[in-house]
Formats: sequence, C-alpha cells, structure tokens
Amino acid sequence: EKGGHDYFMLKEIAEQPRAVADTLLGRVGADGRLTLDEMRLSDQQLRDVEKIIIVACGTAYHAGLIAKYAIEHWAQIPCEVELASEFRYRDPILTRSTLVIAISQSGETMDTLMAVRHAREQRANVLGICNVNGSTIPRECDGVLYTHAGPEIAVASTKAFLTQLVAVYLIALYLAQVRGTKWGDEVFAMIQLLATMPEKVEAVLGTVEPVRELARSLAGERCVLFLGRHVGFPVALEGALKLKELAYMHAEGFAAGELKHGPIALIEQDLPVVVIVPPRARPVLHDKIVSNIQEIRARGARTIVIAEEGDETVVPYADTLIRVPAVPTLLQPLVATVPLQVFACELATARGHDVDQPRNLAKSVTVE
Ligand code: M6R
Repeated sequence: EKGGHDYFMLKEIAEQPRAVADTLLGRVGADGRLTLDEMRLSDQQLRDVEKIIIVACGTAYHAGLIAKYAIEHWAQIPCEVELASEFRYRDPILTRSTLVIAISQSGETMDTLMAVRHAREQRANVLGICNVNGSTIPRECDGVLYTHAGPEIAVASTKAFLTQLVAVYLIALYLAQVRGTKWGDEVFAMIQLLATMPEKVEAVLGTVEPVRELARSLAGERCVLFLGRHVGFPVALEGALKLKELAYMHAEGFAAGELKHGPIALIEQDLPVVVIVPPRARPVLHDKIVSNIQEIRARGARTIVIAEEGDETVVPYADTLIRVPAVPTLLQPLVATVPLQVFACELATARGHDVDQPRNLAKSVTVE
C-alpha cells in the first residue's frame, strides 16, 4: 500500500508530479484557455467580486498566502489571507461582492468550517478548495474546486499542498481571464507554463539525493531557520512547519526583509539557515536576498541556498546549494517546496521518528 516506500509521506512526495497533472487535467483547454465551470460560480459572479478573503489552517494557510500574490497580480483583486481560527473572532467586513476562499485538504477542519459558516451567514460567496470529495466544507460552500491529489495518508501535507497551489493559480488566472485584466498575454503564457509543471516537479525529485545527505548531517541540530521573500516567504514558513511537526525541532520561517528588525540576532556560528532565492528575472527581489545571504554568512550561519538552475551569483555564499528548475517567480513555490519536504522527512527519519504519525497530531483536526 505504500508502493514500495517506507512511509506514506515518501510515497506522497513521489506522487506529486502526477497529483499536479491530475489537478490540471480537463481544466486547460486546447485553445489555451481555462474552463472551471465545475466551480458552480458563474462568470458574472466572478466579475462582480470586489474583495477576496482566504481562510485556512496550517499548510493550507501557506497555500493561501501564496494565492494572495497570484490573485492580486493576475486578477487585480484585493486579497487578504487569514488563519481560519482567527477569522471568526473579529468582525470581518463581508458583503455580497466578497468572495471567501476556504482551503482545506480534508474538508473537515473545524476551524475552517466555522469560518465558512461565519462568512455565509454574512452573505459572502464562499468557494472551497478541497481534496476530499463530498466532505463537509465543500458541501457547505457555494462553489468548489477540487484538488486531485488522491488520498493523503501521512499527517504532514505534501502532495495536497502542491495541488492547492495549482488550484489557486487556476483560480487567479481564471479570474483574470473572465475579467480581462491587463495581463492577458502573460495569463495566456502562464496557463501554458502551468501545464509543464508536472515535469518540473519530477525534475526536482530526481535531484534530491544531496538534500537527503544534508538532512542526515543536520540530525543533531537544535534549530533551523528559513528565509524567503515574496512567495518565497510562505515557502519558508512551510519548510519550518514541516520540520517542527516531523522532526520536533525548533524551526522558524522569516521574511528575509525582517531579518534586520530582530531575527538576525539569532544568527550564531554554524546555525543552519535555509534561504529560498527568487528567480533572477526579478532582480529587485533576487539581489536583496543575495545580500541577506551575505549578511547571515558573515555572522557565521551555515547557508543552505535554494536557487534556480544557472544562477551563479549565489555560488560564493552557499555552503550547500540546492538547484530547482527556472520558472517564473509566482510559480516557484511548486518547485522550491519539494526539497524542503524531503529535507524534513529525512531529518525526522534520521532522528528516529515515524514521519507518518508525528506525536500529538491528527490528520484532520475536527475540534476548534
Ligand atoms: O485538512 P486541512 O487542509 O484543512 O488541514 C489543515 C492543517 O491542519 C494541515 O495542513 C496541517 O497543518 C498539516 N499537518 C501540515 O503538514
């Protein structure tokens, strides 16, 4: 049942190219346009949206943080992201033109379900992104876009996360398509590129052996930090969450720009710091993070750098360099997250933990 793997998590990591492909299947037309009719929200409803609020927990929340960048860029709709457990305890301003998007692998997370109910009571339209057919959240939403990751058994979310990313890219691009935003050509190009992502994820999986070795060499560490900018920031948060839940290690993700506002004080000799470097196509982001790497290295950090193929600028500052395929910035989380999953899984295994059943955690959290 584990398909020859020692753990479900390893099987699910390996299934990601297929999961991404299945989530795209039937949604990208031969004419290069998207069809998401199954969502049950009409194009007119989508044209009327004035604000989007995304609610989710844990890893699904990280997918939501990445969605914000995609939605605000391509669809040009203001977008907020909130932890579902916080959302209903304030007084969010919701109207009929607010679209709330609830992201949940299981479709049973109580905090997210309560946020959905809270939003619907206030007459907002609610769209679910879920992996489990017929689960509670999609039944209670106005519309639903299913991810097709297949059953995810391991407690730590891997393939569900990648398919949630695909789903939010599809929604952002579809909103742009029906609303005719100024990014028409880019949207068309992105849709084509999305179709190539399964092979890019496959390519990453083919190069993760050094990540495993690195993870084993760090099994005795007490703390690992993760830094990113733009969509690399939620990727950093996701890398840290995986390490906490599987390896029971102190791990934190920071926005690289925040370093000098406090966290840089944590840097000490040999502290492992993972840095996600944006593509060179965005020099403003890229060059800033290269300076951040220099700053932390000068203070003794052991730098583990995730950068696109061909980026030579980072070579002098990387104690370990992990390559990912070159893709546009907004899509980079699809490839940059995979080495972090492998890293956490291997490090936890080296520490003797069962990665499928981490202590104190349940696969779906059905209490608030
Ligand atoms: O089923 P959901 O997507 O609603 O679950 C949300 C979180 O509980 C979940 O992502 C959790 O953070 C994972 N264990 C992370 O790997």
